[in-house]
Amino acid sequence: MWGGRFSGKPAELMQAINVSIGFDRRLAAQDLAGSRAHAAMLRSAGVISSDDEAAIQGGLAAIDAEIAAGTFPFRDEFEDIHMNVEARLRELIGPTAGRLHTARSRNDQVALDFRMWVREACERSLGQVEALQRALLAKAEPHADAVMPGFTHLQPAQPVTFGHHLMAYVEMFGRDATRFRDAAIRMNESPLGAAALAGSPFPIDRDMTAKALGFARPTANSLDSVADRDFALEALAAATICATHLSRLAEEIVIWMTPQFGFVKLSDAFTTGSSIMPQKKNPDAAELVRAKVGRLLGSFTQLTVVMKGLPLTYSKDMQEDKVPTFEAFDALELSLLAMAGMVADLQPDREKLKTAAGAGYSTATDLADWLVRELNLPFRDAHHITGAAVKRAEALGVALPDLPLADLQGLDKRITPAIYGVLTPEASVASRKSYGGTAPDQVRAQITRWKELLA
Ligand code: ARG
Repeated sequence: MWGGRFSGKPAELMQAINVSIGFDRRLAAQDLAGSRAHAAMLRSAGVISSDDEAAIQGGLAAIDAEIAAGTFPFRDEFEDIHMNVEARLRELIGPTAGRLHTARSRNDQVALDFRMWVREACERSLGQVEALQRALLAKAEPHADAVMPGFTHLQPAQPVTFGHHLMAYVEMFGRDATRFRDAAIRMNESPLGAAALAGSPFPIDRDMTAKALGFARPTANSLDSVADRDFALEALAAATICATHLSRLAEEIVIWMTPQFGFVKLSDAFTTGSSIMPQKKNPDAAELVRAKVGRLLGSFTQLTVVMKGLPLTYSKDMQEDKVPTFEAFDALELSLLAMAGMVADLQPDREKLKTAAGAGYSTATDLADWLVRELNLPFRDAHHITGAAVKRAEALGVALPDLPLADLQGLDKRITPAIYGVLTPEASVASRKSYGGTAPDQVRAQITRWKELLA
């Protein structure tokens, strides 16, 4: 493509380090779409003739078909996807192919292709996040009233419901969805027409190509257009945060699946066995989702380091933007799909959850609150008395609801049998009716709200 200036061939090692077709072939569809829009614009601006445009469009359509059929010859000697397409176009339609690159550079071309790819990745992720949210809603609804322990420090804290716990993730993934949506909106400006870096002397219509390719508008600074990859960084940041949420849910599934917890079961569809220990059922999918976040953060870090300190505008460093981004979204996509599958597959053991919900004196706060409400004690005093009640229950080896009244009255004479009404996990969750609380009716209200939002 630059034979005029060069008389020698590149060293083999030069080609080895320079070649990107092995990975940027994933931009083929975007590259063809960009070229089609560019050719139509060149003709409408009077830069190329109708005949030339028709020949170019015909050749691009043929290439599209070759790519779909798997017969397109991706060749290392043409370095990247842009030159592979152009070289093939020349083979198919002759020297007219050379007119397509008028008023365009690979710098704005790759900025365009990559931006479109990332935009689609954000939209795909958004759809998958919403599918996961739907799976969580479907699982939360029948278990909006299933009591389970709520934890802090992974110690039993206060009872909550299984539905409430799952709905916490619906909120997290809801914010992830907005991050993907925001990123897609912010990046939705077309860099095509920035050319190499300074714009073009041809009478190009950047609004026309922007519109044809689904962008809100063209980018407003030609240098910025070819120099920045913040759109990819932003998408990777959103993806990393989402993967972090996924890893937490994955970790909980791993814990819940242990015989020691026994909170949930996964079917054979999302578990594996052991080749030596016949009793095993391992939550491999959850473990892998838990681990994938490493790839995502790694990708974000990689691209940040590539971009850091680069002088304007384009440098070949930026060719290194693609692999981490592709890998990150591949990993995220698989994680989101696997997690949605696991959530649908998950069977909570309501009995086990209920037993666990009452363990560890989990209604101690309810006892203290009763003392405040009914005996008008300052909370700190109530806390002290409750601590003594827990100590007594521990000494007797009983749960709080089974602590004899005499023992409670030994701590404060005014305690009545009515106190037992607040000491069960069911009573505890039912009492937490504050907005966003774990009372089953509050949980159901949030499920309804999310169903409407996702409809
Ligand atoms: N393959 C290149 C990339 O990914 C395309 C742009 C090359 N531009 C250039 N001036 N060498 O960035």
